[in-house]
Amino acid sequence: MGFRITLQPGNHTFIAEAGETSLEAAKKHGHNLPHGCGDGTCGMCKGNVLQGTVDHGKSTYIGLPAEERDAGLALFCSAIPTSDLVIESRETSSSWDMLDWDAPTG
Ligand code: FES
Repeated sequence: MGFRITLQPGNHTFIAEAGETSLEAAKKHGHNLPHGCGDGTCGMCKGNVLQGTVDHGKSTYIGLPAEERDAGLALFCSAIPTSDLVIESRETSSSWDMLDWDAPTG
């Protein structure tokens, strides 16, 4: 069973298949979110979970400290939806866009 993800700003919606990370689902549906390591460490894919719940999966406490988890942030390379979600993340047109990007903090 998949879950619906609504990406803000922009109000784009797409489905994440069971076990798929938010980033994998976004990429599959043509939404390029900022990311780097892909293993829950660098924090470049960090964004807000505005509604819903995720399994933080392989997110490390280096990439996503406990206080940021508690504040509703997630690493979308590792966050697996466990309900329908509304998330907030900047979309990029290319990896060059990420050079001036500041990860959100709690
Ligand atoms: S891409 Fe590095 S923590 Fe997600």
